[in-house]
Amino acid sequence: MTDIRVALVGGGMHAPAHIRGAAAAPGVRLSAIADPSPAAKAVAGKAGLPWFADHHALLASDRPDAAIVATPNVLHVPVALDFIAAGIPVLVEKPIADTVADARRLSDAAQAAGVPLLVGHHRRHNPIIRRARQLIRDGALGRLVSATVLATFLKPDPYFDVAWRRQPGGGPVLINLIHEIDLLRFLYGEIASIQAITANAVRGFEVEDTAAILLRFANGALGTVTLSDAAAAPWTWDLAAGENPAFFKPDGVETHFFCGTEGSLSLPALNHWRYPGARGWHEAITASPEAIETANPYAEQLRHFAAVIRGSEDPVISGHDGTRTLEATQAVLEAARTRQPVVLSP
Ligand SMILES: NC(=O)c1ccc[n+]([C@@H]2O[C@H](COP(=O)([O-])OP(=O)(O)OC[C@H]3O[C@@H](n4cnc5c(N)ncnc54)[C@H](O)[C@@H]3O)[C@@H](O)[C@H]2O)c1
Repeated sequence: MTDIRVALVGGGMHAPAHIRGAAAAPGVRLSAIADPSPAAKAVAGKAGLPWFADHHALLASDRPDAAIVATPNVLHVPVALDFIAAGIPVLVEKPIADTVADARRLSDAAQAAGVPLLVGHHRRHNPIIRRARQLIRDGALGRLVSATVLATFLKPDPYFDVAWRRQPGGGPVLINLIHEIDLLRFLYGEIASIQAITANAVRGFEVEDTAAILLRFANGALGTVTLSDAAAAPWTWDLAAGENPAFFKPDGVETHFFCGTEGSLSLPALNHWRYPGARGWHEAITASPEAIETANPYAEQLRHFAAVIRGSEDPVISGHDGTRTLEATQAVLEAARTRQPVVLSP
């Protein structure tokens, strides 16, 4: 079986995750990097890959089997549409688009063309998340009651030297919370309604630095997310789960707490809490860790991308699914702005 040749469009900060992922993924190899910046040209050189100034030059010279679009968000849709029009499957980074309307336009175009479109919510490919999903689906927690998510961390000051990160759309809701929303949808199912408050009091930029979010799931469970990129705190998946070596990994930090009528689960350690005998808060409740398999979720995402292209797997996250995640994430900002709950379409 020959490798699927994947071009990487956008060779910025997130490119190393895809370069490492491709190196570890069976049946896949990167074919080139397309990005106008000199820094990306250097990244391509270091990785031993051909470099192109943009995806048009790439398509004109060396047609890949597939493409990863990791450009600034505003370019996701136009670049991905060009690949779809050429019949080339696309893995587009999150968020799928800047607006829900554009996300639908892209998803519809891919569906109409019959070309695979996946969205880069890589956590769905983490074995810890997959195990949690299996346990929840198998009823290990009973009826789902609540989900508590902590996403509190500190972005260093130079991160904000780039103007768009200080402006609406560049904050932790659309950049970071979107991963939590997608994860919650993956584990708990659709979100029915959202309430939220946001604050910019710490950094004083136009964009939010902190948010508190309340969720009601279609299955009746409730959820809360505390989000801040201005907190000197370790309680966030990106640190705790050790998915990306660029981040410090603290030991023993739990960030996600899923509760049901029969048991509960904390992540990333996958501690499964249950009553071994009599039930009730006077009785002993004990935790046993579920077996954890570790794997690079970016590599698994690319292995899966190749399997979808070969027709042996269905997309774990399609364009339409990624659109629902974007819609729910934008509802957080709308709920905060209007101070009203936002009801999502079923
Ligand atoms: N899945 C994740 O965990 C994760 C993490 C970080 C970033 N991302 C996503 O990846 C994308 C890129 O993020 P980043 O942090 O690398 O941003 P970045 O700004 O560091 O990199 C973007 C790159 O795109 C290049 N670019 C600009 N115009 C281009 C064009 N027309 N054609 C090709 N390249 C072009 C820029 O020169 C730059 O090198 C964003 O959509 C972001 O949301 C995802």
